[in-house]
Amino acid sequence: MNDVRISQALSVTLHDYHPRTAEMREEILDGLRAQQKTLPCKYFYDDRGSRLFDVICELPEYYLTRTELGIMEVSATDMAASLGARVRLVEPGSGSSLKTRLLLDHLVRPSAYVPVDISRAHLVTTADCLNQVYPELEVLPVCADFSQSFAIPAPRRTAQRTVIYFPGSTIGNFEPAAAMELLKRLRRLAGPNGALLIGVDLRKDEAVLQRAYSDTAGVTAEFNLNILRRINRELHADFNLNGFRHRAVYNSAAGRIEMHLVSCDNQLVRLAGDSFSFLEDEAIVTEYSYKHTLAGFKVLAAKAGLQVEKVWTDDRRWFSVQYLTAA
Ligand code: AVI
Repeated sequence: MNDVRISQALSVTLHDYHPRTAEMREEILDGLRAQQKTLPCKYFYDDRGSRLFDVICELPEYYLTRTELGIMEVSATDMAASLGARVRLVEPGSGSSLKTRLLLDHLVRPSAYVPVDISRAHLVTTADCLNQVYPELEVLPVCADFSQSFAIPAPRRTAQRTVIYFPGSTIGNFEPAAAMELLKRLRRLAGPNGALLIGVDLRKDEAVLQRAYSDTAGVTAEFNLNILRRINRELHADFNLNGFRHRAVYNSAAGRIEMHLVSCDNQLVRLAGDSFSFLEDEAIVTEYSYKHTLAGFKVLAAKAGLQVEKVWTDDRRWFSVQYLTAA
């Protein structure tokens, strides 16, 4: 892990564990050297990628954000009652913290809000904005890859408990074993009397899923291709952005959407002194997005030492927000 750098930016103090370029290069090279080429989806989120993701969240086909927001609107009071007073709320992968506001509006005397995000500029702007909207609330942004370890800054006002808020079904972007490890880490981060409030996308009609990841405006395609643009810029690679196309397929056996970048031709790509050959139609796997069943997620949580205390869903049971405590 990097040394933490603390900087005053706008009206908030940033705790910075941003991964170094060398780490990114190694992870990307490992993925491209594998038999089935992969790229880690966390690298979607540079500033442009984060902005594109915000646009995705507003797309008519992308039901996840809208459905989760609807659940929050109906049940935020109930959720806040479950979490209790004087909570230190930690949000890994906070992005624009949109849903968080619904929760913050209902929390009883929260002790602090700790947004954790890999995109530094996005994080600082969001933290600064929250600081203006909630002047009473201490906002302590941490720039980090939340799948690695980082420390939670201590708030000025002592917290009763730490609650990890993990909305958006980001847990779905982890394969089951990694999801279990992440849940374990989040449980440890929350501490013995802590809790998790987590958004989990559910299985549904395949056509709905397919549309959500292949929108007609092409924003998801742009978001997917942005990872190559980023690798070109930051690691001086020479991916031809017109030489790859976006593909999203639902793998029903695994219960996941798979996002691919498919090579349009036989081609060679140079990166960090290495070269990688692609055959026509060869795919790089860029992201998995698992869709869980309520029963399946309960088993996964139990393996991580967590107990499902409460579940809120929408009328169609497309999405769930779940309150978990240490088993
Ligand atoms: C962040 N994550 C939950 C999104 C998802 O739906 O898996 C990322 C995404 N990929 C394509 N569209 C959105």
